[in-house]
Amino acid sequence: AKFTIVSKDECIACGACGAVAPDVFGYDDEGYAENVFSGDNNTGTVAIEASLEADVIDAAEGCPTEAIKVQDSPFN
Ligand code: F3S
Repeated sequence: AKFTIVSKDECIACGACGAVAPDVFGYDDEGYAENVFSGDNNTGTVAIEASLEADVIDAAEGCPTEAIKVQDSPFN
């Protein structure tokens, strides 16, 4: 399983991740990204649906500031 979280301190609101993985990354009122998948609320505790894992990895690799963290276990 994959878990993901956006480090908002590192996000520069470039907007790339939501285009790559729209089912996982949304934006707050200031344009900073967050994991909105299935109630995760950017906690990194909800396993990403398997069919979306590739998109999440693509988004993480494409983020210009490496703000998107992905790992195989929950973040908390
Ligand atoms: Fe922010 Fe990176 Fe997405 S800068 S908007 S987390 S691609």
